[in-house]
Amino acid sequence: MPQTMRALVAGKVGEPADVLRLESRPVPAPRTGQALIRVKATPIHASDLHVLRGRYGFTPEFPTVGGHMECVGHIEALGPDTDGFKIGERVVAVAIPAVPGPSVAGTWQEYLVADTRRLLPVPSQLSDYSACQLAVNPLTALLLVTRELDVQPGEWLLQTAAGSTVGRLVIALSKHLGIRTVNVVRRREAVAEIKALGGDEVICTEDEDLLRRVAEIAGPDGVRKAVDCVAGVVGAQVSQALAPGGQLVVYGALSTHRQTDPAALTIPLQARSVIYETKAVRGFWLNRWFGATSPEDALRALSEVRSLVAEGVLSIPEGQPFPLERFGEALVLAESPAHGAKPLFVFDAQ
Ligand SMILES: NC(=O)c1ccc[n+]([C@@H]2O[C@H](COP(=O)([O-])OP(=O)(O)OC[C@H]3O[C@@H](n4cnc5c(N)ncnc54)[C@H](OP(=O)(O)O)[C@@H]3O)[C@@H](O)[C@H]2O)c1
Repeated sequence: MPQTMRALVAGKVGEPADVLRLESRPVPAPRTGQALIRVKATPIHASDLHVLRGRYGFTPEFPTVGGHMECVGHIEALGPDTDGFKIGERVVAVAIPAVPGPSVAGTWQEYLVADTRRLLPVPSQLSDYSACQLAVNPLTALLLVTRELDVQPGEWLLQTAAGSTVGRLVIALSKHLGIRTVNVVRRREAVAEIKALGGDEVICTEDEDLLRRVAEIAGPDGVRKAVDCVAGVVGAQVSQALAPGGQLVVYGALSTHRQTDPAALTIPLQARSVIYETKAVRGFWLNRWFGATSPEDALRALSEVRSLVAEGVLSIPEGQPFPLERFGEALVLAESPAHGAKPLFVFDAQ
């Protein structure tokens, strides 16, 4: 094993392209309950970039290795008390720091040490470029649909940014569970694609009125359950489109991604509809879910995701590979409109 490795490190809070540097660092050694993972692939999620900008739900200590979500790799070494794991085994490592809870090493490096309670062995038929995205978005889709909103067969589920990775997984899971989806997209070109994926109804905000279309689709009973990751005006419209007593779970704020002023990160709700129509708007954040869930329960939920993927119910599109050296390009792609497959950092060929 080499003594040193490459890592993408941010020295301080700032715009990722300005603060990230490729550095050489010592390969860490696993302690009790930890494994050393040789990373094969790790995604660039928008949230990874917000962590570096200092506008996410937690801020790591700087300097920090980037990538605070997930990766896939092989176990290279094991510390004491790590029964049940084998050297060479391929695992997904969940690097999401629980809130409240301990911080976890960043994934944008060749090797990282991880708590074995956050490792999930993955089937060989799943490629590295898909497996490295197994935890965050598929788990979010599963938890939103089944646990947060408990959407029942035949019920409508309204969702925004339906073309996002989470959105596509919500469509696939909903189809499997007999849930009907109303999918909001911002580009006309995305409509046919979402229909082809099995989205029941698609609303395009480029040229359609969200409220009017939801009323046409769901009729007088309206939509009782919705998930939103756009926030701002679109999130507010979704809250207005809910039936009385309806619930909206907000899990992202894509429309505010370039905002650094916290006052601009808003969803302008109508007090009338919150009070007199008793609509509920609440948040979901995987970090807080990990903080409130035992490691055993969290692994159970992740295993459920793994089974849904193995059964072909959920599919994870392979990401676009980038070597660490091309991080500038990968960062731009991660937040470009219509970027398609998620950019990934990869460390050697599959
Ligand atoms: N709370 C949690 O724990 C949690 C967990 C996982 C993900 N998330 C959040 O979920 C969201 C989606 O993540 P992802 O990885 O699935 O995203 P992704 O695959 O990168 O896709 C982003 C999607 O959002 C759409 N979009 C971007 N900006 C938009 C805007 N201003 N208005 C409307 N649509 C917009 C894009 O549409 P185009 O195709 O038109 O470009 C694209 O379809 C992110 O906000 C992420 O932070 C939250």
